Amino acid sequence: MTSRVHNFTGGPSTLPLPVLQRIQEEFLDFQGIGASIVEISHRTPQFEGVRAETEAMIKELMELPPNYKVLFAVGGGVMQMAMAPMNLIATRPARKAAFVHTGIFTGRAISEASKYGTAVVAASGEESGFTKIPAVDASMVDEDASYLHIALNNTVHGTQFRTMPQANGIPLVGDATSEILSRKIDVSPFGMIFAGFQKNLGVVGLSLVVVREDLLGHAVKETPKWMDCAILDETDSMPSTTNPFTIYVCNLVLHWLKEQGGVAAIEPINVQKAARLYGVIDKTDFYVGHAHPDSRSNMNVTFNMATPELEEKFVVEAEAQGLYSLKGHRELGGIRASIYNALPMEWVEALASFMEEFERRNG
Ligand SMILES: Cc1ncc(COP(=O)(O)O)c(C=O)c1O
Repeated sequence: MTSRVHNFTGGPSTLPLPVLQRIQEEFLDFQGIGASIVEISHRTPQFEGVRAETEAMIKELMELPPNYKVLFAVGGGVMQMAMAPMNLIATRPARKAAFVHTGIFTGRAISEASKYGTAVVAASGEESGFTKIPAVDASMVDEDASYLHIALNNTVHGTQFRTMPQANGIPLVGDATSEILSRKIDVSPFGMIFAGFQKNLGVVGLSLVVVREDLLGHAVKETPKWMDCAILDETDSMPSTTNPFTIYVCNLVLHWLKEQGGVAAIEPINVQKAARLYGVIDKTDFYVGHAHPDSRSNMNVTFNMATPELEEKFVVEAEAQGLYSLKGHRELGGIRASIYNALPMEWVEALASFMEEFERRNG
């Protein structure tokens, strides 16, 4: 295992080592069938057991009230940006979706929603270069909006909502792709929370959709079967063949999270990991944090250095020391350390020490 790097990639991202080992151990013969999980029907009792248990663990770990449904949809976060308006924009006659615009992914969500109704921006962080989560109060949200969309954690910019906006009873739609199950969230203001699997839930292929049951049944008529939440609910998220491997890996990741003590135990570790890196950034002006301190993410730590050449040197030298994939998102540049649930404190410690040493040599 010595060849495994300390992997800080934005996603698909590192998985807990015991999960990878378990996949390897049982890959050729899943539960004594004599075939692997990717070679059996999604209708077998073995897979159905995995799917049902995964759904139950999500309910438990997210502490979902009974009126929320857990669905597994095809595609990733960007697919959900279409699925949310398809399912929810027609819950009210104005067919209007409001947004807190906090970066690249809310920009994509706005353009998707405008295909199915009217998309309005209630508040935007654009003026700050998306370095700040804008303040939102209920008076900024159109009263006839069907929902208010937010991205809880902005993977590219490294910003995160600390408190959820209030919208006078208008349900929130939350893109939690890059922070799901990393901290305790009160789901009650949300009509929908979605997350692609490939960061805190395992591997790419599907998205988790948590939806309030009274909002089901309003999908616009063009909605494909696989994107209609009411149909996913009626069919246990299997209107046709699903992706058993993605659900199976998620099941193992959730077992791992429960063994760590669940969200209550991982949240303070996530806070500590991020604080270690922000501590190095704040010590001098050698590293310049991208996000405003009030809006900093505990999942994606973004920062810059004096020149792009110095940043490039940082990435190359870090990689030579086994600190992998620290280059910032292609649209933002700089450096990004993605430190999701599965990334251990020791890796953060190794990165923080490298940052201190790099500064000594180049500061
Ligand atoms: C917050 C957020 N939303 C949406 C997406 C897009 O997800 P996907 O690439 O699975 O479509 C990402 C991907 O990183 C993301 O971080």
